[in-house]
Amino acid sequence: MSHRVAIVGASGYTGGEALRLLANHPSVEVVAATSREYAGKPVSAVHLHLRSVLGSMKFSELNLEKIVSEAELVYLSVPSGVSQGMVRRILEAGLRVLDLSPDFRLKEPRLYEEWYGFTHRDPELLAESIYGLPEIHREEIRRARLVACPGCNATAAILALAPVAREGLIDLDHVAVDVKVGSSEAGRQPDQGTHHPERANVIRPYEAAGHRHVAEVEQELSLLCGRRVRVAMVPHAVGNVRGALATAHVWLTDTLDETTVWRAYAKHYGREPFIRIVRAGPVKYPDPKYIIGSNFCDVGFAVEPSRGRAALFAAIDNLMKGAAGQAVQCMNIMLGLDEREGLNYFPVSPV
Ligand SMILES: NC(=O)c1ccc[n+]([C@@H]2O[C@H](COP(=O)([O-])OP(=O)(O)OC[C@H]3O[C@@H](n4cnc5c(N)ncnc54)[C@H](OP(=O)(O)O)[C@@H]3O)[C@@H](O)[C@H]2O)c1
Repeated sequence: MSHRVAIVGASGYTGGEALRLLANHPSVEVVAATSREYAGKPVSAVHLHLRSVLGSMKFSELNLEKIVSEAELVYLSVPSGVSQGMVRRILEAGLRVLDLSPDFRLKEPRLYEEWYGFTHRDPELLAESIYGLPEIHREEIRRARLVACPGCNATAAILALAPVAREGLIDLDHVAVDVKVGSSEAGRQPDQGTHHPERANVIRPYEAAGHRHVAEVEQELSLLCGRRVRVAMVPHAVGNVRGALATAHVWLTDTLDETTVWRAYAKHYGREPFIRIVRAGPVKYPDPKYIIGSNFCDVGFAVEPSRGRAALFAAIDNLMKGAAGQAVQCMNIMLGLDEREGLNYFPVSPV
C-alpha cells in the first residue's frame, strides 16, 4: 500500500532531499510538491539531479485545502515562522505532519520569544509535538500526529552527547560544543554570508553567542538527564556543501577510561540502525566525508583520563540525518514501516 505524502517547500534543499528519498521509497507516493515560485514548472527544472527520476512531476501551488484532501502525511520544509500557521489545519483534517522547521521543536512558548524573536502563534500544539530524534523519542514518534524534526547542528550535538550525559559520566554544567557545517544548511536562497564567493573556503564562526539550536540541545539533554543542562555552542561555516561535525568538550565526573565511555555509546547506540561507532582505522574519529549521501551518524570520542576530560564527536550529512533522512526515518516509524525503508543509501566516496 502506498502512503500519500505532500511536501510543502519542495523547491528548497531539504524539500529536494525529501523528494530524492521518497521517489525511491517503496511504500510512499508523492502527491504534491509545492513551490510558490516554481508552481507549474517541472521539479527537475530546479532539482537537476532528479532529471528523469520523477517522471513529469511538476511543482504545485501552495493550496492547503487541496493538500489535505489528497495527502495523508505532510512534510513542511519551510523557513522558521511559516509552519506554525499551517499545522493546525492539517491536523484537524486528520493528516500527520513532519515539520522540518524549528516551529514546533521547543516545548515552552517563551523560548520562541527568547531565541527566535517571535511570539508563537499556536503554543497549544507545542505540548503535543514530538521532537523527531528516533534515538531518544522512538516510542513517542510512533504515536505522534506532529513530529518536529531537529536542527542539523542540534542533531549532531545531541547524538554526540546523549549516551555519556544519560549515564552521568560528565559535568552537566560545563559542556562546550563546536559544530562545523557546510553551506547547504543555510538553504537555497543566497545572501551576503551564504552566496558562494563569500562562503567558499571559509572556516567562519557565526552566531557564537545565542545560536538558536542551543535551546533545543539544552531542552533535550535536560529531559534526558532529569536536570537542567547548560551548553555553550559555536557553529562554524565551512566550505563543504554538505556535512556537519559536532565536537563536544566535556569534563568527566570520575576517573574514567575509554572503555567506560565506549560502553555508554555501545549501550545506547548498539542497536541503532543509523549510528556507527568509530574508534579505529586510519581516520580514528568521525568525519562527515564518510557519511555523505547516507542517513548515518558516525560517533566517536577521545578520553584524557589524567586531565579528566573527553572530546565527543558526531558526523552527519546535514540534509540527511540532519533533515530529510531523519524525517523519512520518523515517517517510517509513524507508519509502522521498517525504519530503514527508503533510506538504504550507503555513503558516496570519494567526495
Ligand atoms: N538546510 C539544512 O541543512 C536544514 C537542516 C535541518 C533543518 N532545516 C530547516 O528546514 C527548513 C527548510 O530549510 P531549507 O534548507 O530546505 O530551506 P530553503 O532551501 O530555503 O527552502 C525553503 C522552501 O520553503 C519555501 N518557502 C519559503 N517561504 C515560504 C512561505 N512563506 N510559505 C511557504 N513556503 C515557503 C520555498 O519555496 P517557494 O518560495 O518557491 O515556495 C523553498 O522551497 C528550514 O526551517 C530550516 O531551518 C534545514
